[in-house]
Amino acid sequence: MLKTLRSAANQKVIVRLLEDSLRTHAPAYSVAIAAMLVVAAMTGASAWVMRDVTNGFVVSRDPSNIYMIGAAVAAIFIIKGMASYVEALSLSRAGNAIVAERQRKVYDRMLEHGIEFYHSFSSSDLITRLTKSAQAARRVVEIMVTSLVRDLCSLVALLAVMIVQQPYLSLIALVFGPGAIYGVNRLRKRVRRMVEKEYLSAARIVHVLQETVFGVRIVKSFNLEGTMRNQMHEAVADVQRRANSITRIEAATSPIMETLAGLAIAGVIITSGYLVLEKGQTPGETMAFITALLLAYEPAKRLARTRVSLEAALVGVRMMFEIADRPLKLAEAPDARPLSAGPGEIRFENVGFSYRDGVPVFQDLDLIFPAGRMTALVGVSGSGKSTVMNLVMRLYDPDRGRVLVDGQDIRQATVHSLREKIAYVSQDTFLFDGTVMHNIRMGRQDASDEDVIAAARAANAHDFIMRMPCGYQTHIGENGLALSGGQRQRLSIARAMLRNAQILLLDEATSALDAESESLFRDALEHLKEGRTTIVIAHRLSTVAQADNIIVMADGQVAEQGPHADLVAMRAGGYRRLYDFQLLP
Ligand SMILES: Nc1ncnc2c1ncn2[C@@H]1O[C@H](COP(=O)(O)OP(=O)(O)O)[C@@H](O)[C@H]1O
Ligand SMILES: [Mg+2]
Repeated sequence: MLKTLRSAANQKVIVRLLEDSLRTHAPAYSVAIAAMLVVAAMTGASAWVMRDVTNGFVVSRDPSNIYMIGAAVAAIFIIKGMASYVEALSLSRAGNAIVAERQRKVYDRMLEHGIEFYHSFSSSDLITRLTKSAQAARRVVEIMVTSLVRDLCSLVALLAVMIVQQPYLSLIALVFGPGAIYGVNRLRKRVRRMVEKEYLSAARIVHVLQETVFGVRIVKSFNLEGTMRNQMHEAVADVQRRANSITRIEAATSPIMETLAGLAIAGVIITSGYLVLEKGQTPGETMAFITALLLAYEPAKRLARTRVSLEAALVGVRMMFEIADRPLKLAEAPDARPLSAGPGEIRFENVGFSYRDGVPVFQDLDLIFPAGRMTALVGVSGSGKSTVMNLVMRLYDPDRGRVLVDGQDIRQATVHSLREKIAYVSQDTFLFDGTVMHNIRMGRQDASDEDVIAAARAANAHDFIMRMPCGYQTHIGENGLALSGGQRQRLSIARAMLRNAQILLLDEATSALDAESESLFRDALEHLKEGRTTIVIAHRLSTVAQADNIIVMADGQVAEQGPHADLVAMRAGGYRRLYDFQLLP
């Protein structure tokens, strides 16, 4: 225990956690601690009273005394029982509150992070941190409070009884005690390493499961059941093995402690027998002493084991703090203000950007998306089209240069006010677990049912929604597995339409639509784009040709730009080449 505390890194984690948790839950813990002190005192008293019990029987032989003692013993145990109840109740309430609070904090922090964060941690890793780590936090606080207060105080009370009743015999116990602590101590480091690995294996289980759920079509069609099964069985076996190892080490503390305790007790019995039988002491003191010693055994054992348990739980807490401490890459400026209203012009000025150091996507990019106009971005995949949208939405910040909305650097604006202005249909459609209505309404939470339906009609989704078993109330499972790609895309478009935002970003929003749906969507877009700054990324020239301006991107640069007619007229141009390939009007 002490050594665990002495390690500087552990100390910091514990102090931080206790500071955080004890302060907010001070009332509950005060009650618990008061109850523990009562328990400790009653434990000491129950040993102490053994002197009077024994001497009452053996030495004084006074019956009236016996009633008194009986009543005292009953009282001691009743009070102890009630205090234990209060202790357990308040401790567990506070513990549950800690778990809840930790989970809220960790999740809120996760939400604050940008996209980059989600590329750095796998979802299974985050799941483990959110669930197991919160439990670990609770355990650490509980261990600290119970062992420091209840076990330590009980031990002190019992030691006091022992020393007062039999000072010499107490020496024997005090020699064996630290020996036991030392033996257990050595197991600590091994447990810690093992627990860290157990966490990773647990995350692996979640990971394999997720892959199976999200990739079930691929898993089935490629006959990957065997591969997935092997992966899962391996991960499960791994956790099993590690859990066994941890238990083995933790359990090893028991035989060590039992052996030492047996030796100590045997020594005490022999010595006290000698003192009573040969030296003529009254047996009461010895009985009190032995009782105290036997009672001291449990808290001492728990205290010794605490160190190991604490070490294990600290791993989880440390992993949780890792999330909390990770600096936010896309922090809002301290003096950020809401974007002031404007027509919605977007401008890139000398923008340099790279996802990874040394691999620039843009070197020195200038772009203008005029307010209320529709601009199309075309170019081969990897040319940086989606990245332009990422920067407009401020999912990433440019390394150099500025992105301006109505002349205001978006880094100076509140993130909320920026995103409020934007409706976005992503390249990979994402659906929430819930009804169709719920999914579309995510675009604007206060929209009425009529608005939702109007948006669905505009996105040409209404008809297929009405053919679903419960219409708008049909539940679409996680990831919308039961829908076709085109249907999912139409729901995403409806969601964006409902948002009714000034800036509309469509990233290959029609890639999964058949020609007829696409043509219907084009008509809808014709209305929708009125008065909005629209950026579309599309491959179909029929959509692109609608745009007021077309920007052809190549290698993160603007290769050519202009309206459709002008670009087609450039016979050697890149756009012309795309045009010839598609043979569209
Ligand atoms: N999250 C990311 N991390 C690292 N590189 C990325 C990431 N997203 C895109 N890239 C890279 O940036 C370049 C531009 O990507 P992107 O803008 O998505 O292209 P497009 O949308 O034109 O197909 C590509 O080379 C791509 O590999
Ligand atoms: Mg893209």
